[in-house]
Amino acid sequence: MDQQFLFFLLILIISGSASVAWKMKTPLMVTASRGEDAVLNCSVYPDRLDYSDKITVKWAKSQAESPFFECSVRNDTLEGPHDCSVLKYSLFGDPRRGELSLLITNVQLNDGGTFFCKVELVGNRKLQDKIQLDVKAPPHILSLSVVNSTCGHSSSASRWLICEVEGHPVPKVVWLSASKRLLENQGHSFKSGEWSLKACIPYLQQGEEVVTCRAENSEDHAERSFPDSNTLTMFVIVVSAIALMLLCPVFICILIICLRNHRQRRLSDPPADGAELQPVYSEISCESSLFINTRNNQF
Ligand SMILES: *[C@@H]1O[C@H](CO)[C@@H](O)[C@H](O)[C@H]1NC(C)=O
Ligand SMILES: *[C@@H]1O[C@H](CO)[C@@H](O)[C@H](O)[C@H]1NC(C)=O
Ligand SMILES: *[C@@H]1O[C@H](CO)[C@@H](O)[C@H](O)[C@H]1NC(C)=O
Repeated sequence: MDQQFLFFLLILIISGSASVAWKMKTPLMVTASRGEDAVLNCSVYPDRLDYSDKITVKWAKSQAESPFFECSVRNDTLEGPHDCSVLKYSLFGDPRRGELSLLITNVQLNDGGTFFCKVELVGNRKLQDKIQLDVKAPPHILSLSVVNSTCGHSSSASRWLICEVEGHPVPKVVWLSASKRLLENQGHSFKSGEWSLKACIPYLQQGEEVVTCRAENSEDHAERSFPDSNTLTMFVIVVSAIALMLLCPVFICILIICLRNHRQRRLSDPPADGAELQPVYSEISCESSLFINTRNNQF
């Protein structure tokens, strides 16, 4: 009985020391900015240096879920490439050297969350650990417009200026006057999505005052004004273009009159050694019908 217990204890100690030697290392948390590539570091320290069988690496988004990334490499040679990359995800390092890190290209907000790094060796030897990926995003103003609705609020105002912003952490919105001072009425705001927020202030039509929506979070800030200065610029460009189009025929007429006067003056001059007149009208290419007329007048 005692011998059996001792034997059991011995096995427990042996397996215990083996599992201590065979260990995995991961950081608790990895932070990346949206659009960047992120590396989730994960490495294993093998208990046997002569392991030459299959190493299976798996990455999953939750403990229960089936892995979204899986790759097996035989540890018979440390040379040569391994074939462990998919489009968005690939291994960063070589599993044969205990490197199981995952490279995620162009991380987006919904890539954030808990990841599980798993490794399996032949003989049902498994290890796993988790890593938190935090994706940061500077504020981005999705829209700034006037709407005829309640803006998620039962209030007397019927027209609201709504600024929808997105970012991680979810940005805070402040409203500024044309002179960049805080407006007295900062309205209200509510979350419109996991990373977005809608901020509303009553929109009073009187006055053409420019109001600015400013979104801030720990990453950066963003601003947009209403009415939009870009819209104003576009308006100026369009008006200038129309004015030019209207003025162009006037300029052409003036040019033609000038040319005709010039030609008449040259015709009245005695031509030098009987040389023909140079056709000056060939320099201009628009309004061909008018040139045909001037040519007809000449002969
Ligand atoms: C992640 O691993 C790479 C090499 O695999 C190393 O250069 C880098 O410093 C590691 N980063 C962290 C945060 O441990
Ligand atoms: C793969 O084999 C090499 C020796 O060839 C060894 O150093 C390495 O630790 C092994 N890798 C794993 C994950 O066991
Ligand atoms: C906006 O809403 C008000 C009442 O809330 C209504 O009287 C008005 O006709 C609406 N205007 C438009 C353009 O829908």
